[in-house]
Amino acid sequence: MSPLPSLPNDTQNDTENTSSNPEFSQILSARLSRRDLLKGSFGAAASLYLGGSSLLLTPAGDANAAARRLKLNFTAVSKSTADKVSLATGYSYRIVLQTGDPLAADVPDYANDGSDEAESFHHRAGDHNDGMFFFGMNKSGSWNPTVSEQGLLCVNHENITAAFLHPTGQSIVNDKRAVSGEVLKEMLAMGVSIVEVRKGPKGFEVNRGSRFNRRITTLTEMDLTGPAARSPVMITKYSPDGSRSRGTLNNCSNGHTPWGTYLTCEENWAFFFSRSSADDSKRTAKELTAFKRYGIGAKGTYQWATVQPDTEDNRFGRWDASIKGSSKDGSDDYRNEPNTFGWVVEIDPFNPQSTSKKRTALGRFAHEGAWPGLVIPGQPLVWYMGCDSRHEYIYKYVSNAVWDPRDIGRGFVAGDKYLNDGKLYVARFNADGSGDWLELKYGQKGLERTNTYYSFADQADVLINARLAADVLGATKMDRPEWGAVNPANGEVYMTLTYNPSRALDKVDAANPRFYNDPKNGVAQKGNANGHIIRWAEQDGKGSATRFQWDVFLFAARSTADRENINLSGLSADNDFSSPDGLWFARSGLLWVETDDHAYRDATNCMLLAAIPGRVGDGSKKEVVNSDNGKESRATTYVGAAPGDERLRRFLVGPVDCEITGITETPDGRALFVNIQHPGETTNDKGFDITRPETYLSHWPGGGMSRPRSATIVITRDDGGPIGADLA
Ligand code: FEO
Ligand code: CA
Ligand code: CA
Ligand code: CA
Repeated sequence: MSPLPSLPNDTQNDTENTSSNPEFSQILSARLSRRDLLKGSFGAAASLYLGGSSLLLTPAGDANAAARRLKLNFTAVSKSTADKVSLATGYSYRIVLQTGDPLAADVPDYANDGSDEAESFHHRAGDHNDGMFFFGMNKSGSWNPTVSEQGLLCVNHENITAAFLHPTGQSIVNDKRAVSGEVLKEMLAMGVSIVEVRKGPKGFEVNRGSRFNRRITTLTEMDLTGPAARSPVMITKYSPDGSRSRGTLNNCSNGHTPWGTYLTCEENWAFFFSRSSADDSKRTAKELTAFKRYGIGAKGTYQWATVQPDTEDNRFGRWDASIKGSSKDGSDDYRNEPNTFGWVVEIDPFNPQSTSKKRTALGRFAHEGAWPGLVIPGQPLVWYMGCDSRHEYIYKYVSNAVWDPRDIGRGFVAGDKYLNDGKLYVARFNADGSGDWLELKYGQKGLERTNTYYSFADQADVLINARLAADVLGATKMDRPEWGAVNPANGEVYMTLTYNPSRALDKVDAANPRFYNDPKNGVAQKGNANGHIIRWAEQDGKGSATRFQWDVFLFAARSTADRENINLSGLSADNDFSSPDGLWFARSGLLWVETDDHAYRDATNCMLLAAIPGRVGDGSKKEVVNSDNGKESRATTYVGAAPGDERLRRFLVGPVDCEITGITETPDGRALFVNIQHPGETTNDKGFDITRPETYLSHWPGGGMSRPRSATIVITRDDGGPIGADLA
């Protein structure tokens, strides 16, 4: 038996959009002047809800004045490669939820040596804590967005570090998974945890006896809802009418709704499927195009489909999308199973008996997360979304129904109203600093049967193959969209573009303008090695607008890099970073930035930074000159005002080989939850030996020679004050 190499961090586990959709620099069009867009104002003050808490929307001028009054209240933390959490002085953290922690009173503590029963993960926290949200809760058990002492924490478990889940790593014989219990444990260690947390004398802790505690895994039944539900290509043996699906997978980032439900998002689901090319001749040309575009290959990550014997419910075999049955419609096999993944899933944390809903109106791609725009009564609701792979796109969904605050607390009834019926758009970032939202609508702009790139049958087909539809519309290929966040003060949207090693010298554009080399330990790292954070202001401040104005808030770089063309935001040793990923606006208006980095690992582990945002257009136009081996390219971009040390500061550095991801706060802003994901995840290095703990890269958080675990921590200020910034 030999262990499978553990899955590398998702910074490497992506696909590349190689569609013929040209880079925008080649299809330059500038229909809007900056002036047209800047004419838009953020309108009169209006009462609104954001994340359920009532906030007053003020005109842009006032909002920006408020942001200017924010003052960072800590001294920067130095870069670090130590195997510990380094946190700003005056702050402390405690661990709330680690891999394998019991969620019920009668479940034994986690042994963390691979001996824990697979089935016990029905009642244990999963692995790789990622996106999460805190829902304040009344004593009566209902949602209350003003309560900070007690709440339901919904935590995604994106993936697993397989080596540490089993006694001696994954068992493989003849290229097949040899132990079904190992595969079951892996399938149960992914998904979502819902846990009740309470503030006790020592700080927040999980209430193991709570009736709300629940796991949602890759085996949990889900309803398919919206325009693509019951489509012929959703038919499986599990659901012959295409109305249901089993489980959620690769739950990366998240979102929430103003009526009090959680959104979990399916990111790199495609890699878990296998499909034999031997049945190519039985598949339509459309199917083959779709498999290729979504990256479904011959051998799934972890090879779950290879377990024999397969059980009656095909819990293993369903990960193989080959045609196995004799039916015409797929009702006797899992040829269509991949179409039931890649969605935004709505979960009602306050209704533990409810069946979660996959919301197909929001499109199918490598969903990072779904972040709500400002919530304003009488206006449509908006969620911003990114597709995290190289050269993929940024999307938004706009509900057809307008927000009615009486829907607060109505769970899936509200979900059906706002999330099953709306418009899906993809972003085009124009060279002049403007942008357009292009609607993915069947029957227009080439999204029709006669298209020779892909023959779209109907709106369900457009949504299931949203990437292909976005190719046709000419969306802008971005440097890997990760998290988004909406500034509560003015509705401007920020989104991280984490990094893109495939950005070519001759394929830069205004919104993805850099190609450079950032050598690490003498080894070249070319393309956009460090990533950037783009932001935009919707026309007239309306989330439903089809036009916007953009600039780049921050270009990530080493502080020592060339300030003319690489370190364009003028980062210093106290705030330089690489590969921005998680993003979160505190209700105070402070912006938190988390990193998932490899490029800068020679100098530092991943980190969390606090930023005081400016606004779109506060910087200047800049021509970037890129070069490689004597060749040159240029791109004119828009750089936000340099933050300086006053507006951007490193707050936390994590242990070795972790990602900092997932972030949420209590409504009072006095407790910040952050995830330390997969410390010591690299288990495919030469020298790693699961039987020799001294070869593990990290032993956090247990210390000694323990196996590392992912963990949610909660950060508080020692004097009980607001986290990160005070109002000056
Ligand atoms: Fe799962 Fe895109 O990070
Ligand atoms: Ca990760
Ligand atoms: Ca990432
Ligand atoms: Ca991420």
